Amino acid sequence: MAQMSFIHIDQGVLFADGVSLEAIANQFSTPTFIYSKNTLVNTFTSFKKGLLKTNHLICFAVKANSNIAILNLFASLGAGFDIVSGGELERVIYAGGDPKKIVFSGVGKTESEIKAALKVNILCFNIESKSELLRIQKAAKEINIKAPISIRVNPDVDAKTHPYIATGLKDNKFGVDFNQALLLYLEAKSMAHIEIKGIDCHIGSQITELKPFMDALDRVLSLVGQLKKNDIHLSHIDIGGGIGICYQDESPPNFEIYIKEILNKIKDLNVKIIFEPGRALVGNAGVLLSKVEYLKQNDLKHFAIIDAAMNDLIRPSLYDAYHEIKVVREHDATLQSYDVVGPVCESSDFIAKNRSLKLRENDLICIMSTGAYGMSMSSNYNSRGRAAEVMVDQDKIYEIRAREKSADLFKLEKKFPL
Ligand code: LLP
Repeated sequence: MAQMSFIHIDQGVLFADGVSLEAIANQFSTPTFIYSKNTLVNTFTSFKKGLLKTNHLICFAVKANSNIAILNLFASLGAGFDIVSGGELERVIYAGGDPKKIVFSGVGKTESEIKAALKVNILCFNIESKSELLRIQKAAKEINIKAPISIRVNPDVDAKTHPYIATGLKDNKFGVDFNQALLLYLEAKSMAHIEIKGIDCHIGSQITELKPFMDALDRVLSLVGQLKKNDIHLSHIDIGGGIGICYQDESPPNFEIYIKEILNKIKDLNVKIIFEPGRALVGNAGVLLSKVEYLKQNDLKHFAIIDAAMNDLIRPSLYDAYHEIKVVREHDATLQSYDVVGPVCESSDFIAKNRSLKLRENDLICIMSTGAYGMSMSSNYNSRGRAAEVMVDQDKIYEIRAREKSADLFKLEKKFPL
């Protein structure tokens, strides 16, 4: 069972906080992503709770969910942001985020993205290669400022997660090789337009054990010691994101323990600690509401064809990810094992496989734990407009992104003059 859900049952019907999912479907149609303001606020607040006495910054990883309303809500709670593109930079600023609380990660920052970030005075670039360091030094020189940097080190630890979302191993493209980091810091120190701020690492996503975080931090701290010996003093340590959530039966470490263990290791250092959580802040604050269009069967399988597809939620197709499915209004149809699939013309277009459900055509279903990497990874494949997004605040519903219409999809295209 997905933990801590804002979805609950009342007289046989599912509600999102104080709003029935049937009412949301009536007003906004399906598929629609639904977020709970209360859950977002409570999750952020409980992350922050263990940090109140510590010099810290929580930089929400924008890629997990980049809706402006959600960014704006986090900004209002004091969050900073971890961005990975010029697009995310513009989004965060538009949403009211403070540039001084932005860290910029990613292996492929372009010159124009770097300049845009320098111009608004972001907190720090998380450098992922020597070439990037040189490019940032050059860009900063051109506008005669000092660029604040950390080096993202690759600690070569196994995050024990899906291989597509592990980032802290030598065969991943991320970060600077642990053994090369000291040398790169020394080079950075000699550069006139570089200001060394900190050190960074991010080892992967949906991590459900503490040990990989601690192993990575131990490696980072050993480097911090070597840097000190070389007269390089850091003002922050950025531990990245990656803490997992419960989709099915995982039991990730709770925030309190995770934060306590980290603070324990750095308590004598007198540095700011930066976190970059994405999924943990939004994953279980969102669901995807969808409708069963057709049921069909052959002699091997029962299929439920729903109106949400891999273009709305790609995680099952891409990572074989599990998302719990609940039927919005209970009834007594026969329990069957279904493959729950979308209308997209790909065999990999499935949301769930072999799932025991009681379904009828036209049922509404609720796909759980889709607040992270749901809408933000959606596409227009098969010329499907992206889903609507709504936020519930107790018994009120706010549309935070309208459903895309075909005209929205065509608007940048031009007919070739024949
Ligand atoms: N910081 C950096 C540098 C990252 O690359 C990421 C995620 C995060 C923070 C946030 O990680 P989180 O706390 O959300 O685990 N699409 C995949 C997840 C990809 C994660 C990419 N990087 C999924 O749906 O599972």
